[in-house]
Parts: sequence; C-alpha cells; structure tokens
Amino acid sequence: MIHKKTISVEAPANIAFVKYWGKQGRQMPINPSVSMTLKECVTRCQIEYEDFKEGPILESYQFEGAENEAFRNRIEKYLNDIIDIYPLLENLKLSIKTENTFPHSAGIASSASAFAAIGYALAQIEKSENIDKRASELARLGSGSASRSVTGPYMMWGDFEEEASTDGYAIAIEDIHLDFHNLKDAVLLIDQNEKKISSSAGHAMMDTHPFRENRIKQANQHTKKILKAMREGDWELFGNILETEALTLHAMMMTSSPSYLLLAPNTLAAIEKIRDYRKKTSISAYFTIDAGPNIHLIYLQKDEESVESFIKQNLTDLCHDGRIIFDQCGAGARVTASGSSDE
Ligand code: DP6
Repeated sequence: MIHKKTISVEAPANIAFVKYWGKQGRQMPINPSVSMTLKECVTRCQIEYEDFKEGPILESYQFEGAENEAFRNRIEKYLNDIIDIYPLLENLKLSIKTENTFPHSAGIASSASAFAAIGYALAQIEKSENIDKRASELARLGSGSASRSVTGPYMMWGDFEEEASTDGYAIAIEDIHLDFHNLKDAVLLIDQNEKKISSSAGHAMMDTHPFRENRIKQANQHTKKILKAMREGDWELFGNILETEALTLHAMMMTSSPSYLLLAPNTLAAIEKIRDYRKKTSISAYFTIDAGPNIHLIYLQKDEESVESFIKQNLTDLCHDGRIIFDQCGAGARVTASGSSDE
C-alpha cells in the first residue's frame, strides 16, 4: 500500500520598488531590495508526495494541465540542488502541478510566484518551525525575487543596516505609514513577447558591469530613503525613488556587455503620458518596470477612481490588445488544501 499526501498552496507575484539586480554566492543578492506583494496574480501549486528511497525526486510535473519541459527541467534542477539544505528530499517522491491566475506570457514574473509557492509547500511538508522564513529561504534558491513573495504586503530582502532582513531570506517591513496600507498596481501589458534576455543572464552581467559599485551604493541609498518614505508617508519621495530605480535597472541593461534593451516604444509613450498626467493634475501615480517592457503603475487607494479613469482613457491603446491587470498589495502565500490517501 502506498501512502500519499497532498498539499495545495498559492503564492502571489511581487513588484520590486528597489530592484534586485546582480547576484553573489549561492543565489544571494549584491544589494538589498524592497517590494510589494501582489494579491490577484498568483500561482496555485499542488504537491503530491510519498516516501520513496530510489529514483528521481520529481515524478511528474504539469503546468496548467499539460507537460512543460522547460519548467519541469528548472524545477527538477532546483530540487536536486537543494537536497543539502532540505534533506527530506532524499526520501521523497513529488508530483507537482502549478497554474497561474495570470497569463504566463503577461510579462509578470511568474518564476517569483511559482518558486514562492513551491518553497512554501516544501516548508509546510517539512513542518518547519518558522514557515515564512524557511519558505522564503527555499523560494530564494529557486528564484531570488521569489523570496519576497511569501508574506506581504511590503517586503525587503538582503542585508541592510539595522533592518532584520538578510541575504538568506526576506522579511515583511514593519511600521508602514497608513497612506501606504492599500497601494494599488495597474499592470500595463505593453508587449507579451518572450524576453530576449533572461533575468538570470542579466544578473550575471552585473559581475563585470562598469557601474557595478555605484549601482550597489545607489541601491543601498534608495533602500534607506524608500523605507523612510514608506514609514513617514512621503509619497513624492517614494515615487521619485520608484521611477529612478526602474530606469536605472534598464540603464544597467543598456550599458551591460553585451548591451540590450527591453523597453518598447509604447513603454516610453506610457511614461510620457504618466508624467504629463502628474504635471496636469494634483494626483500622483508613479511607474515602475521589471525586466521587460510592461509598466506597473502604483497609486494610492484614495486616488483609485481618477487614476483608473486616466489609465482607461489614455493608456489602454498602448497595451497589447488593451490588456491591463488591476491588482493591489496582498498578504502572501497560504495553504488552500491538504490531505492524505492510501492506494
Ligand atoms: C528585475 O528573481 O527573476 O525583477 O534569481 O535569476 O530567478 P533569478 O532572477 P529574478 O530577478 C528579478 C529581477 C527584477 C527585479 C526584482 O524583482 O527585484
């Protein structure tokens, strides 16, 4: 008789305010990063597991009900790589299924939500003492930014002054100002084509980047300032750092060797319109961009109505098929079901 157990979890994507760009050691960042955990854009993950002493750890993998070789290979490599950190895997056989509530091609970092979900499920299977910390550590080993998707709403990852976050795992930021409690994120899907250069390749180019040391210094200064802004409710300071971070990330790409460019003409057109809107109204919405052409427009809950009407009227045409995802900050990963069966 085979005794099988199942755990189902879900974990959201996140959007970085201060960007993680460049790695060192075993999947550790060269600079601290700060992010917002999303709510609606989540990966659902089911892991069926049983005791087993021989054969591959990953018995089967399905993405949205079908085989997916690229994802399967990445997950299999991940599981084999973490055995020294998660020795339970020596005696486990896993069947994993994942699906996203957002389209895979949407340019939202699906590796962050996927590895946060897998890391969270593994921490649950292990019955870790500190589930969130352990899940963040396990998620980080799969994808750095995934470490920031385990809890929410605002997270930081990486050693930084007297903050409790470390290079090993992310933590929730405490004492956030009331104004920042329910931030909104409209994801403008400018272009849905596959990225020309993966984030992993981009991180690697930071090893020898001519601006590396200045970038590390700047990210530390931005972390200090953005934490201050988020704790004191300084929306303008927050917004300035947010936009500088996004543009610096892309400036790093443009000045990498080889140089590359992920922004699209409509990304620039949207930035112009957003800045113009800020000049003409008293309402502030600020953009950020990850490693792709899509824009995340961040705004306060009190401005929701006006900003969303501005977006619908002025930015829809710049998006691929007019697609926009309206999301907001969220609480992180959770268990949705668990059970066991004998076969
Ligand atoms: C631009 O976490 O996707 O989104 O660790 O190689 O999986 P890997 O990279 P990944 O890098 C994300 C970079 C970023 C900025 C950020 O999320 O901080």
